[in-house]
Amino acid sequence: MSKKTIVMFSWILALTISCDFAATFTYHQALETFYKKAKPSMPAAESDGRTPTLNQKGAISPTLDYGTLSFLEFGKNKRILEVGGAYGNVMLEALHQSGSTIYHLNDLDERHLGIAAFRLQEKIDQRKICMAGLGNVQFIYGDITQSSWKVKEPYDAILMANVMRFLTPNQIDQAFSNLFTSLKSGGRIFIIAMTPYVNRYKSFIPEYHQRIKDGAPNPGFVKNIRHYANNDGKIQNQINNITDGHFMFLDDITLSNLAKSAGFKVLECTFKPLSYKSESWELDGRETVVLIAEKP
Ligand SMILES: C[S@@+](CC[C@H](N)C(=O)[O-])C[C@H]1O[C@@H](n2cnc3c(N)ncnc32)[C@H](O)[C@@H]1O
Repeated sequence: MSKKTIVMFSWILALTISCDFAATFTYHQALETFYKKAKPSMPAAESDGRTPTLNQKGAISPTLDYGTLSFLEFGKNKRILEVGGAYGNVMLEALHQSGSTIYHLNDLDERHLGIAAFRLQEKIDQRKICMAGLGNVQFIYGDITQSSWKVKEPYDAILMANVMRFLTPNQIDQAFSNLFTSLKSGGRIFIIAMTPYVNRYKSFIPEYHQRIKDGAPNPGFVKNIRHYANNDGKIQNQINNITDGHFMFLDDITLSNLAKSAGFKVLECTFKPLSYKSESWELDGRETVVLIAEKP
């Protein structure tokens, strides 16, 4: 059988699997399927160093934050998954640190996975990454909020950074349930979420505090995020791309309660400042909340 036929055959197999749950691709399949035809490329970085996604689901931070560094430390040489990992920044760092780590990268957008696979190929060619086996990396094209989400084998650790904000309350419940079933017992989740304490949306803070006082369910959920955008002019270029979509802000107590309801034991859930300078986001050092929780 020719190499081309084998690639075609593995494609068909992977797409067939995608009918009932998230489809898994090897590194070569991801390059063929998601990169070689359309050759997507990463947009230019914004003034604070963040690189926008291709699907208007936020942007990628220029530095690694506390939650991500904790995930990399805990997950080294283990079997780990990143949900919503976009262009693969954390994957490249994990594999640079150890070629024995088994890394599965998930995203909702196939172009992001294609770019991640291409970047991985570049690092391998430059000998900056040397994997114990090419099968150590897999690309999972799928949506963590689907009830049909399934993984072949549970993980030691899962990172989900800067994704919760795009989900509705029901989707967050389903995502937590999927994270729980995707982990081994003793495995850990590392979640980084956005709080209302950000310059860009600071007009929402009084409303948020009132909702907390009233005991409202899902106090951080807003139906149209554009209503709360800070129009003071200084960050105009960064808020031009804000969509009319819904948005979820979380805090330490709300995020911790969501994890507990899904069955997790919370090890840590605290506010953390941004790991990079940004006029658009920086407010008072509580811009993000990091949850580290264990499956009993
Ligand atoms: C703001 S980016 C964050 C990327 C990276 N985790 C980081 O922190 O730099 C959000 C990413 O999550 C992905 N995403 C959004 N909703 C998702 C879902 N339901 N399932 C999987 N990925 C999702 C988007 O496609 C996008 O690549």
